[in-house]
Amino acid sequence: MESLLRRAQKDHTLSRSEIISLLTAEDDQPLFDAANQVRKQYVGDGVYLRGLIEFSNFCKNDCMYCGIRKSNERAQRYRLSPNQIVETARKAVEYGYKTVVLQSGEDLWFSAEKMADIIHKIKETGAVVTLSIGEKTRDEYALYKEAGADRYLLRIETTDKNLYEKLDPAMSWENRVRCLHDLKNLGYEVGSGSLVGLPGQTIESLADDLLFFQKLPVDMAGIGPFIPHPDTPLKEVAYDGNFNLSLKMMAVMRLLLPDINIPATTAMETLHPQGRMLALQCGANVVMPNVTDTVFRKKYELYPGKICVGDSAEKCRGCVERKINSIGRYVSTGKGFHGDFLKGK
Ligand code: 5AD
Ligand code: FES
Repeated sequence: MESLLRRAQKDHTLSRSEIISLLTAEDDQPLFDAANQVRKQYVGDGVYLRGLIEFSNFCKNDCMYCGIRKSNERAQRYRLSPNQIVETARKAVEYGYKTVVLQSGEDLWFSAEKMADIIHKIKETGAVVTLSIGEKTRDEYALYKEAGADRYLLRIETTDKNLYEKLDPAMSWENRVRCLHDLKNLGYEVGSGSLVGLPGQTIESLADDLLFFQKLPVDMAGIGPFIPHPDTPLKEVAYDGNFNLSLKMMAVMRLLLPDINIPATTAMETLHPQGRMLALQCGANVVMPNVTDTVFRKKYELYPGKICVGDSAEKCRGCVERKINSIGRYVSTGKGFHGDFLKGK
């Protein structure tokens, strides 16, 4: 195990069976330490903050795991107006965010033209714009790019095609992969990622997820523990081990993709009070504090127990920085593109 880790720290290659052995090892500390060292060497001690705007929870899809699936009649739907989105982004920039992430369900009210207009206006503030709005056509992605969008987040969720399509029978796994390739070809920085602990998900398929990210390759990837939502068909699923397994996934991902951006996800902190800081010590180098207006936060409920639903954007900004400083790290002032640290930026 020690020699496997030492080798991976240097050459960043692991076979499928080696990944499986790391994900299933009894003692996870050596893996976490190795990932932390690689993180320090390739992306440094700085942590990039991205301001997250959850601008609509309308969704045309029906993913079994997700609290804002269209069949969930208990979800209280909301949609910010384009002006409200741009205003929220301006505020995020005032709080010092260099990147804003626009996230929503797949809400058809936002036509490609409306999104392009919003992106264009936000770009005038100087912010880097990341989109996280789901599967679109290549032409739509091209239009957002022309309007100034820089990055795009689209988790593959799982590379197990059968499981993926079981969890949403109306969606096609191939189309999701097509989206990721289109985004890459159009010049976006591409983020992907997986859910960890889905019912029926195997360790083998988690290893495949990591190899998939390495092959694409992604510029960033977020790993989130699956947390069952009470108003979804998966409400009864056990999720005890998902936090620790997510940490291990992140750590192996850091070994395989040493210089990418890896967020310490909000779902990690939902399962553990120090979840994001532990993630930052197991390979992560990004945090995405919520800047959505407090009145909407609770309604954007992908999973239960989401943190910070009663807090303001200002509070989260300060809180996150204090936490980062408390573990001997600091908030980076750069824009945080893939590879910036190695370029001395
Ligand atoms: N638990 C954890 N994460 C979830 N997501 C959706 N539903 C859940 C859940 N029940 C994640 C998906 C999606 C991201 C925005 O939120 O991975 O890509
Ligand atoms: Fe929101 Fe700590 S991050 S209060």
